[in-house]
Amino acid sequence: MQNFTHQIPTTIHFGKGQISHLTELKASGSKVLLVYGGGSIKKSGIYDEALEILKSVDLEVFELSGVDPNPRIESVRKGAEICKKNNIDMVLAIGGGSVIDCAKVVAGAALYDGDAWDLVKDFRLVKRALPIYSVLTLAATGSEMDTAAVISDMTLNDKLPTFSPCFLPTMSICDPTYTFSVSKRQTASGTADIMSHTLESYFNNNDDAFLTNRFAESILLTCIKYGPLAIEEPDNYEARANLMWASSNAINGFIKAGCNIAWCVHPMEHELSAFYDITHGIGLAILTPHWMRHVLSEATAPKFAEYGINVWGIDSSLPAMTIAEEAIEKTAVFFTESLGIPATLRETGITDESKFEVMAEKAAASCKNAYVPLTKEDVLAIFKAAF
Ligand code: NZQ
Ligand code: ZN
Repeated sequence: MQNFTHQIPTTIHFGKGQISHLTELKASGSKVLLVYGGGSIKKSGIYDEALEILKSVDLEVFELSGVDPNPRIESVRKGAEICKKNNIDMVLAIGGGSVIDCAKVVAGAALYDGDAWDLVKDFRLVKRALPIYSVLTLAATGSEMDTAAVISDMTLNDKLPTFSPCFLPTMSICDPTYTFSVSKRQTASGTADIMSHTLESYFNNNDDAFLTNRFAESILLTCIKYGPLAIEEPDNYEARANLMWASSNAINGFIKAGCNIAWCVHPMEHELSAFYDITHGIGLAILTPHWMRHVLSEATAPKFAEYGINVWGIDSSLPAMTIAEEAIEKTAVFFTESLGIPATLRETGITDESKFEVMAEKAAASCKNAYVPLTKEDVLAIFKAAF
C-alpha cells in the first residue's frame, strides 16, 4: 500500500429532515449567498423550506440562480461579484453537482483579486475560500464531500477541474427524499457517474490495497442493485439513500487510500461536454466500455477478471481473459439495458467526428499516468469506437 493522508472535515447530516441543520450556517456569519440552478428546488419546495430556516436565524440571503448543468464561468463571475459587493460571509449551494461546483469556485473567487477563470486554470491559485455549505439534491458527483469543482468556458471549449482543500464543504445536508424528483435520465446519469468515479479508482496497479479495492467493489455493487431500482421506483427511500451515500464515498478519497490513481475516462468525457455540452454521466457510460476494451490485454486481464468475479459474479474457474471480456460486456449491457443510457455518442446528438482530433489531444495530456497510460491515438480510437 502507498502512503496516504486522508482528511475530510465536511460534516454530513444524512437523512430525512436534516435540512433543519441549516441553522448551523449562523456560525459563519450573517450574509449568505444562496446558489441554485434552473428551478428544480422551487418546484420541489426545498427553496421555501431552506429560506424559512435561514430567516429563522436572521441570516440575510442573496441569490445566484440559473446555474447551468456543466456550470459556466460566467455564473461564477456573477456570484463572485455579488459576494464582493455585499461582503458575503458564506456560500450555500442547493442542487446537484453543477450548482455545488459553481458555488465552490464562487467561494474561492470571492476572496481572489483576479479573474475567477484563473482559479480553474491553475488550482494552485486557490488559497482561500468563503465557507461552503451544500444541500444535495442529486446523487452523482460527490461534490458535497470532495475538493473538486468542474467549470466550463464554452467560448474556449474548455471544461476543467480545479481542486482545493478550501473547496471541501463545511457541511452538507444529504436528504435522500430530495432526490425522489430526479428524472429517470438524471438518475441513470448519476448512477453511471458514481460507478465511473469508482472504476477510475478501482483500476489501479496496487493489488496490495486489498481493503480499499473491496470498498470500491461494494460501491459498484450498490449502484448495480439500486440504480435500476431508483429508476423504476423514484421514491424508493432505500434505493435513493444508498445511491446518495455511494455518491459521497466514491470520490471523497476513501476508495483511493493506498493507491496511485490517475483518472482517464473523466478527462475524455470532459472534452465531450466542452465541445458538445452533453450530460456528464451519459458520456461516461458510453465511453467506459470502450475504454475497458481498449486497455484489456494479457497484462490487465487479471484485474478485469477480479472485477468480473467480485462485481458481476462471473465463474472464477474460467480463464482470466474470458472473465474479463464477459465483465466488460456486462458493464456495457448494464449501462444500456438496466439504466437505459444510449450506447453511442451519435445517439446523444453528436453528428460529426471533426472535433475528436483536438479533443483527443487535450484529454491525452491528462492520461499519461493512468492505470494504462493513453496517448492521443489511444483516446482518438476510443472516441471513434464510442461514436
Ligand atoms: O438546475 P436544476 O433546476 O436544479 O435542475 C437540475 C439539472 O437540470 C436537475 N436536478 C437536480 N436535482 C434535482 C433535479 N431535478 C429534479 N429534482 C431534483 N432533486 O438535474 C439536472 C442536472 O443537474 P447537475 O447538477 O448538472 O447534475 P450532476 O449532479 O450530475 O452534476 C454534473 C456536473 O458535475 C461535474 C460534471 O462534470 C458536471 O459539470 N462533476 C463534478 C465533480 C466534482 N465536483 O467532484 C466530479 C464529477 O466527475 C463531475 O465531473
Ligand atoms: Zn464524474
